[in-house]
Amino acid sequence: MYRSRITGLGKYVPENVVTNDDLSKVMDTNHEWIVERTGIETRRHIAKGDGNTTAVMGVKAAKIALERADLDKQDVDLILFATLSPDYYFPGSGVLVQEMMDIKTCPAMDIRNQCSGFIYALSTADQFIKTGMYKNVLVIGSENHSGGLDFSTRGRGVSVIFGDGAAAAVVSRSEEDSGGIITTHLHSQGKFAEELALIGPSTNRWVPEIMEANDPEDTSYYPNMNGQLVFKNAVVRFSEVIVEGLTAAGWEASEIDMLVPHQANLRISQFIQKKFGLKDDQVYNNIQRYGNTTAASIPLALTEAWEEGKIKSGDKIVLAAFGSGFTWGSALIEW
Ligand SMILES: CC(C)(COP(=O)(O)OP(=O)(O)OC[C@H]1O[C@@H](n2cnc3c(N)ncnc32)[C@H](O)[C@@H]1OP(=O)(O)O)[C@@H](O)C(=O)NCCC(=O)NCCS
Repeated sequence: MYRSRITGLGKYVPENVVTNDDLSKVMDTNHEWIVERTGIETRRHIAKGDGNTTAVMGVKAAKIALERADLDKQDVDLILFATLSPDYYFPGSGVLVQEMMDIKTCPAMDIRNQCSGFIYALSTADQFIKTGMYKNVLVIGSENHSGGLDFSTRGRGVSVIFGDGAAAAVVSRSEEDSGGIITTHLHSQGKFAEELALIGPSTNRWVPEIMEANDPEDTSYYPNMNGQLVFKNAVVRFSEVIVEGLTAAGWEASEIDMLVPHQANLRISQFIQKKFGLKDDQVYNNIQRYGNTTAASIPLALTEAWEEGKIKSGDKIVLAAFGSGFTWGSALIEW
C-alpha cells in the first residue's frame, strides 16, 4: 500500500474585510457580544463585482498549492471540491475548477459535508492514493457564505459567524516509507440534519412553490442553526474523534505538535485545548480574522500555520472537524 502526504498548501480570501462594527450597522448586534461568544473580530465577504465565486476562489488557492507542491496542473489526477455553497445547484464546483484551470479531463467530485468537508475530502484523497489509483489529488475547500445569509437582526445568530474564503491542499503519493497521512476517521448522524441546515429551496420545495407562497416570514432559504445543540454536540464529537485518531495512530495527546481544529467558535477550540492539556502554541486558531469558513476553515488554518513556520517536517499534526449533518472527523498527519 502506498503512503500519501500533503505536498502543497494555498489559500485565498476576498479583500473585503467586514468588522463586527460593520455588522452592527445593519443588524442589532455588537462587537462585544460577537467576540465574547465566538472570538470573531473580522471576516471576509466577497464584494459585489470583485469576480469571486466559490470556484474562482478555489482556483486561486489551488494554483498556489500546486506551485508549492512543484507540480504542473496536468499532474492532477483527481479534483475533490468540498463546499456547502457551490456556484450552481448542479453541476458541482469541481468541474468548474477543471475548466478554469485548463486541467486535462480528470475526474472532479464535490464533497457535501459542510464543516467536515475538508476532512472527508482529505480522507477520500488518501484512500485513492493508498490504493494506487491516483498519484496527485487536488483537494479544495471553498465557501461563499455571504451571498446567502440573513443580514437582518432575525439572522444575527448565524450571519455574524460565517465568512468567505478558500484553501487547497495537494495530496500526493509519498516516496518515503513512513510519515504522511497516518489515519483518518469519519462519522455522521443524520438525526440532527435539520439542526444546522438550509432546507429550502430543495427538491421537495422548488423555487416556484416558495414564490407562490410569497411568505415574508419564510426563512427556510437562510441557514438555520440550533446554536446551543450544535455547541454541545461539537465539544463531545471533537473530543471523541481526536481520541479515536490518537488511539489508531498510537500517539499520546502530549505528542501532538499542532492541533488544527475546524474554526467553528473560539470557545469550542479552547474547550478542546483544555481537554487534551495542550499549550497555546499547540493549537492553531484564525477564526478571529476569518470567522467560520466551513469547508475552507481547516485548510485555511493549516496553510497559515505552515506559512508562519509553525509546522515542520516530522511534526505530529491533528486535524479535527464537526459540523452540519451532523458530520465529524479527524485526520492525523506526520508532516
Ligand atoms: C451561535 C452561538 C455563538 C450563540 O451563542 P449562545 O450563547 O448559544 O447564544 P443564544 O443563541 O442562546 O442567544 C443568547 C441571546 O443572544 C442573542 N443573540 C443571538 N445572536 C446575537 C448577535 N449576533 N448579537 C447580539 N445578540 C445576539 C439571542 O437573541 C439571545 O437573546 P435572548 O436571550 O434575549 O433571547 C453559539 O451557540 C455557538 O457558537 N454555537 C455553535 C455554533 C457552531 O459552532 N456552528 C458551526 C458548526 S460547524
